[in-house]
Amino acid sequence: MTQAARHTPGRRTVLGAAVLGSAAVALPATAQATERGHGGHGPVRPDLPVPTIVGHRGASGYRPEHTLGSYQHALDLGAHVIEQDLVPTKDGHLVCRHENDITATTDVADHPEFAGRRTTKKVDGVSLTGWFTEDFTLAELKTLRAKERIPGNRQRNTLYDGRWEIPTFEEVLRWADDEGRRRGRRVWLYTETKHPTYFRGIGLGLEEPLAKLLRRYGRDRKDSAIFLQSFEPTSMQRMAKLVSSPRVVLLNASGRPWDFQATGDPRTVADLVRPEGLKWIASFAQGLGPTLDLIIPKDATGKLGTPTTLVRDAHAKGLILHPYTMRNENTFLPADFRRGTDPNAYGDAFGAFKAYFAQGIDGVFTDNPDTGLLARADFLRR
Ligand code: G3P
Ligand code: CA
Repeated sequence: MTQAARHTPGRRTVLGAAVLGSAAVALPATAQATERGHGGHGPVRPDLPVPTIVGHRGASGYRPEHTLGSYQHALDLGAHVIEQDLVPTKDGHLVCRHENDITATTDVADHPEFAGRRTTKKVDGVSLTGWFTEDFTLAELKTLRAKERIPGNRQRNTLYDGRWEIPTFEEVLRWADDEGRRRGRRVWLYTETKHPTYFRGIGLGLEEPLAKLLRRYGRDRKDSAIFLQSFEPTSMQRMAKLVSSPRVVLLNASGRPWDFQATGDPRTVADLVRPEGLKWIASFAQGLGPTLDLIIPKDATGKLGTPTTLVRDAHAKGLILHPYTMRNENTFLPADFRRGTDPNAYGDAFGAFKAYFAQGIDGVFTDNPDTGLLARADFLRR
């Protein structure tokens, strides 16, 4: 029995499930096509509703991120896809953490047996002090427990601190298959290689062990229920040589991908969002995962400004587009959608979702998949 099965949280959100029920069960192509009505691109994936709601790090708005509890809750809320970030252990296992520094998201600091492992490293040009997954065996990491990353914003999530382990990606693959059998439909994953150049540099390359697991669990094909993703385009190029799974290049708002900095490639994010950059990405990937600010930049006051042409330009190159990250709290929302004065209270998330859906995006990463599904239903009814 998986960890999640012991602690399956919460009840199904009826409306969420109902919306999912209407959208996730394999729709006849025509219905799916009309679901795509707003111009989604790329092959029609019959069991993937568009716009697609991606549970960012699971349902990290409600549970400590990257735990089977967070993933289970996202699925139970109706998320179409569940996101993982991957880093390696000392003994080469792939585990789900947003970064290798586990200080903020586990109770490692409360383990005196690991006090001596605290160290300072340079990761992607940034000096970090803490505890790092590459210095722990899987067995040692399994003695830790996950905790809420931002307790100051999400105090309620701290209720679940200590409840779940750090999951391995293989445990997630097994969980997804079990849930897929139980639900009678495939459970889609969205899996990111974190700091791939750094890890390859210390002999813990991510891509080969990832490809091996994808092949073992039948997620290595062009039509597999998974998107691979990375902020480093060369990691997706490497994956393209190993598997046929769909691939997405993530983009920050500015600067240069770390792999480009490491190899001296002078191109910037601004170069990559131009038609020739998008054409290059489309030569080895099927999608783009830009920050929402590349869809609609914010002005100096934090309000949404004039939308860019990135959606149109990416679609013109056949790329689907899944921006990140929508969150319900005022502190994360564009200023025009904040409500009241409490930064951690919810603002007008529905208004913000609607503004981004209106740009024709093919999906969105969100910490609050239940809100995203309701906003999606509003959008499709418009
Ligand atoms: O992978 C999509 C999104 O999660 C990228 O940002 O920092 O949350 O991994 P991050
Ligand atoms: Ca991610």
